[in-house]
Amino acid sequence: MRILVTGGAGFIGSHTCVELLNAGHEVVVLDNLSNSSEKSLERVEEITGKKLNFYKEDILDREALDRIFEKENPDGVIHFAGLKAVGESVQKPLEYYHNNISGTLTLTDVMRKHGVKNIIFSSSATVYGNPQVIPITEECPKGTCTNPYGWTKSMLEQILTDIQFADKEWNVILLRYFNPIGAHKSGLIGENPNGIPNNLMPYITQVAVGKLPQLGVFGDDYDTPDGTGVRDYIHVVDLAIGHVKALKKIQEKAGLKIYNLGTGVGYSVLDIVKNFEEATGVKIPYVIKERRAGDIASCYADAAKAKEELGWVAERGIKEMCEDSWRWQSNNPNGYEN
Ligand code: NAD
Ligand code: WQD
Repeated sequence: MRILVTGGAGFIGSHTCVELLNAGHEVVVLDNLSNSSEKSLERVEEITGKKLNFYKEDILDREALDRIFEKENPDGVIHFAGLKAVGESVQKPLEYYHNNISGTLTLTDVMRKHGVKNIIFSSSATVYGNPQVIPITEECPKGTCTNPYGWTKSMLEQILTDIQFADKEWNVILLRYFNPIGAHKSGLIGENPNGIPNNLMPYITQVAVGKLPQLGVFGDDYDTPDGTGVRDYIHVVDLAIGHVKALKKIQEKAGLKIYNLGTGVGYSVLDIVKNFEEATGVKIPYVIKERRAGDIASCYADAAKAKEELGWVAERGIKEMCEDSWRWQSNNPNGYEN
């Protein structure tokens, strides 16, 4: 298929471009580079030995989208483009709602105009809020989000659901990611956060590489085996492959489908520190801090539905996730800047 990948220069997008090209798809990337570098795409081409077409454009720019759809005539869209920093979204709700929601409304309107009615959307386990039951199945009700970022995902799920309900020619797949970490084996592409990382694994790798002095562990009094927060960490390459499987589903005229993409295994913050130290031989000093506002105790997936319906399972374990995160960070201490 010929796929337009919005946000394709970013962390998950770049890894997905690799898997799409490896699977024989044609790839067109649209990214405004607000949180990424074009170098990631050069490296995607280096890894795969294949070319992609890149447009430095914004999903809010209707005319640019029009031109790209006219010229490239994609069969479908994998839609990663969006702002994703939870804390920043609390400070800048208008920017987040505008970019993520108005951007997706513009994108889907242009898709409709060009008769392109296949979309895979990056949703998040954050739409479950504080889950009543774990592991979390897709049938668990959506919950109350604790920040505007999470609400953009929840609202966009509803918007895309309504679009598909009104016009059954649409195929909409909502993928709810758990906690993506790791990097491509080559060490050429990986996560490249701006400033001090908010997420656990990039924070750990920056401590390991000496950019930050120590990790702060946000709370050790949760109702979990060691008191620290438990999450379902998933290797970004497994996640990327999930999108290629979802495309197959789209080709079968999926209608509306929702899938969790997680491993089904939960690790605590201290488990991750220990696994990282074992996998890399690098010690991670840490201190226990106050709980972080908005955090929940535990969150991990029931990933059975993706296995049954997409034939997808996460294959890479925590050791590989730690090794690959570390290879990327140690080879590229300043991300794409060096
Ligand atoms: P990322 O920031 O690395 O990638 C997002 C990309 O979108 C960036 O390259 C950015 O430049 C681009 N972008 C943002 N706004 C744009 C706009 N208006 N027009 C064009 N491009 C724009 O983030 P990521 O971790 O790769 O996440 C990809 C998607 O997956 C996002 O939608 C994110 O919300 C979602 N998601 C991420 C996680 C996670 O933990 N990383 C978890 C669940 C869901
Ligand atoms: C993981 C665990 C923290 C940093 C976020 C978003 C979610 C999704 C994925 C996009 C928690 C603890 C963290 C640190 C710590 N993104 N931690 N010290 O919060 O599960 O999910 O990213 O959709 O929407 O909310 O991920 O990596 O921030 O935290 O102790 O410096 O690590 O408290 O228990 P989270 P995270």
